[in-house]
Amino acid sequence: MLIRVIYVSSAVGPQTSTMTKAILEKSQAWNRANGITGVLCQGQGVFLQALEGERATVTKLYSRIYADLRHTKVEMIHCESIVKRRYENWSMALVSLSDIDPETRIDWPEFDPYSATGLLLMARIDDLLASGSVIAAPAP
Ligand SMILES: Cc1cc2nc3c(=O)[nH]c(=O)nc-3n(C[C@H](O)[C@H](O)[C@H](O)COP(=O)(O)O)c2cc1C
Repeated sequence: MLIRVIYVSSAVGPQTSTMTKAILEKSQAWNRANGITGVLCQGQGVFLQALEGERATVTKLYSRIYADLRHTKVEMIHCESIVKRRYENWSMALVSLSDIDPETRIDWPEFDPYSATGLLLMARIDDLLASGSVIAAPAP
C-alpha cells in the first residue's frame, strides 16, 4: 500500500548549501533504491517535506529522519493512503524557500506551516513546483 506523508521541522543550525547538498545526495540515492519519491522545501529555518512510497518504507524512513539531529520540532502534518504518486518524477526534488526571492518566500506569520493543514501545504508545495522553483529534480 502506498502512502504520502508531509511533515514540517525546524533547522537546528544555519541551512548551509553544504548541509543541503549532503541531505539531498543521501536522499536521492536511498530514495531511488527504495522506491521513495517526494519534495523537500527548505529555507527560512524550516524544512517541509513530502514523502511517498510503500507504507513500511515511508514509516522506516520517517523515523530515521525524525531522529536526525540537524532538525527539531518535527511534526507530521499529513498522512494518507494514495493510489497514485503526486511527485513521481522526483526521488527528492529540492525547492528553495529563499529569503530574498519574493516568488519563493513564504511569509510565515501569514502562512505558518505548523498550523496549516496538509491539503493547504500540498497546494503550496505544488505552487512552488509549478512556479519553477525546483532547483534539483533528478528522475527516480
Ligand atoms: C530535512 C531532512 C530530510 C531528509 N530526507 C531524507 C530522505 O528523503 N531520504 C533519506 O534517505 N534521508 C533523508 N534524510 C537523512 C536522514 O535523516 C539520515 O541522516 C540518513 O538517512 C542517514 O541515516 P543513517 O545515518 O542512519 O544511515 C533527511 C534529513 C533531513 C534533516
